[in-house]
Amino acid sequence: MRLKDKVTVVTGGTRGLGRAIAERFVDEGATVVCAARNPYDIQQLINQLPDRVLFHETDVTDPDSVDGLMDAAVAAYGRIDVLVANAGVNRDGKVDRLTPEDWRSMMDTNLNGAFYSLQSAARRMIPQGGGRIITVSSSMASRVAIGAAGYSATKAAIETLTKVSAIELGRKGIQVNCLAPGVLEDGMGRELSQNKKVWEAYHHRFSLGRAGKLDEAALGAVFLASEDSSYVNGHVLEVNGGLLWA
Ligand SMILES: NC(=O)c1ccc[n+]([C@@H]2O[C@H](COP(=O)([O-])OP(=O)(O)OC[C@H]3O[C@@H](n4cnc5c(N)ncnc54)[C@H](OP(=O)(O)O)[C@@H]3O)[C@@H](O)[C@H]2O)c1
Repeated sequence: MRLKDKVTVVTGGTRGLGRAIAERFVDEGATVVCAARNPYDIQQLINQLPDRVLFHETDVTDPDSVDGLMDAAVAAYGRIDVLVANAGVNRDGKVDRLTPEDWRSMMDTNLNGAFYSLQSAARRMIPQGGGRIITVSSSMASRVAIGAAGYSATKAAIETLTKVSAIELGRKGIQVNCLAPGVLEDGMGRELSQNKKVWEAYHHRFSLGRAGKLDEAALGAVFLASEDSSYVNGHVLEVNGGLLWA
């Protein structure tokens, strides 16, 4: 129970990695507000633990919607101890073909959404005396792959946003760290890891020889949210099975 009674907001907390984080945080004793545009099957978790799990309809590309989410979390549970700014989208496209719509979608959701969420949560954590903020990047922030220009650019920017926020907010009691998964079996990693032909060309780049499980990445978020990381700030925690991709 490393997160007992910690009020946690998880953006994109309805499916994929965000849902795995919500489930693992609940197991560790946290109360979780799952935010996304659609509830999907999060209702199952809410039915099991109606006092400790909430869904709040949120569009992270809209700062007013994000403020509404943070207000709802405070109204329901009195405070926000942890934010996991996880919501994200991926649109593949080589630079000479990537459409402005796809570029904007990644910038608006991944980068602007992370900023609005971080800022809105920090404004509520400062008067409380502190909190934890976990952004979500990707191994693609620091590696290159054809077709990943937009996605990688947003993730590299998120890592820098994390580090600057960490030095600005550390003395206000807020630790800001980043979780950077590699390729996971589900969520947006599914297409790559479950496609036998494509995976054949990729798997040797992972020193553990396999894609990660959602829960293995979620455990990284537990570490960054718990007292186990009390002296960790501005760090990018790569959970990628030893990716050797140059
Ligand atoms: N899975 C992987 O292999 C992997 C690897 C590295 C990094 N990541 C990162 O992990 C995070 C989660 O990815 P995932 O694989 O779990 O993706 P996913 O299964 O596609 O889930 C994305 C989540 O984000 C939400 N979302 C998207 N746009 C949103 C918006 N405008 N406002 C609010 N919520 C929004 C989605 O819900 P709605 O569509 O209903 O809003 C959904 O809950 C992303 O930041 C991704 O870059 C994933």
